[in-house]
Amino acid sequence: MWQIEQRAILAYWEQFHEEPVLVASAPGRVNLIGEHTDYNDGFVLPCAIDRRIAVAVGHGDGQLYSVNFQEMRPLLDRREGSWADYPNGVVWAMREQGYEVPLFRGAFVGDVPPGSGLSSSAAIEAATALALDTFFHLRLSRKSLTLLCQHAENAFVGVNSGIMDQYASLLCQAETALLIDCRSLEAELVPLHLAEAGLTLFICDTQVARELGATGYNARRQTCKRAADIIGLKSLRDAHIDDLEKLSGEELRRARHVVTENARVLKGADALRRRDFAAFGRLMIESHRSLRDDYEVSTPELDAFVDLVVKFGALGARLTGAGFGGCALALMKREDRETLTQIVLHHFAARGFKQPVFYAFQTTAGAEVGI
Ligand code: GLA
Repeated sequence: MWQIEQRAILAYWEQFHEEPVLVASAPGRVNLIGEHTDYNDGFVLPCAIDRRIAVAVGHGDGQLYSVNFQEMRPLLDRREGSWADYPNGVVWAMREQGYEVPLFRGAFVGDVPPGSGLSSSAAIEAATALALDTFFHLRLSRKSLTLLCQHAENAFVGVNSGIMDQYASLLCQAETALLIDCRSLEAELVPLHLAEAGLTLFICDTQVARELGATGYNARRQTCKRAADIIGLKSLRDAHIDDLEKLSGEELRRARHVVTENARVLKGADALRRRDFAAFGRLMIESHRSLRDDYEVSTPELDAFVDLVVKFGALGARLTGAGFGGCALALMKREDRETLTQIVLHHFAARGFKQPVFYAFQTTAGAEVGI
């Protein structure tokens, strides 16, 4: 059992003076490559990270407790603008699809940093969905739970995200990345073998809040749809580089990112299969440039991190997640990590940027049920 699951059980006991019936947990994710491709029916390559959200559930009358927020919230069928929107959204989505979800109570605790692009929201949705599926014997497949969590996020919480985060949280496995075809929803595990190669992946949270994120994200989704319409396709997944001739201005830039990024994901998965980490690193750098120049979702902090670590020897680096702030990811030799951290801290301070936070992580299993 995960330690975070034990903490959820303990919190349940403290709040409700009873043992829970079961506990489940789900991880945050980091996307290795393939950004803003999921809602264009394209390819992504995330992995689950060893930061999770756990929920202990038992019979009760609709109370949800969060250790992180230190508060009790009611089970509600409407959005209230709090952390409880995520579990409430999952319950709402299950009921909307005709599944019987009786009242229950739950205690939540997590260590996925919120608001930094590591998908704490998908983690709490996935943990809730798996816990309730098991508790109420719904017998939904992992893929159905993924779609259900995405529906909760889109229609209840009101964030128009793609399928990647929930899919990764529910279906990733340790030591691997998951190559997801976001159209067919088929996926392939791609082993990472980083440790044997003396390499590590390293996250830099630039601490820049993604305030304009939602508006910018939705605007880009719409532009991609417009670009696909102009080319005469259902989605940009099917666009070829020659189709871009039909576009200009913003549509051209956004579509060029999507078309080239999809190709980079497939090449990247191939490079990892061949353990050609140098090639993978180059694709990460190209991905970042495309997100910076064509998709225009980078920030000076993200660019500074990528430029610096690449200059000082990282194999590759790129912003990860939606952009507009949040996190960047670097692939580097394990022994270089400390020095690169110091260089970034020094440079960020000199430029008057906020002090970034760094996370080393292991790739880990997707959502699991404890007891
Ligand atoms: C957010 C969304 C995902 C995906 C990424 C960008 O994380 O939740 O669905 O679109 O941005 O790749």
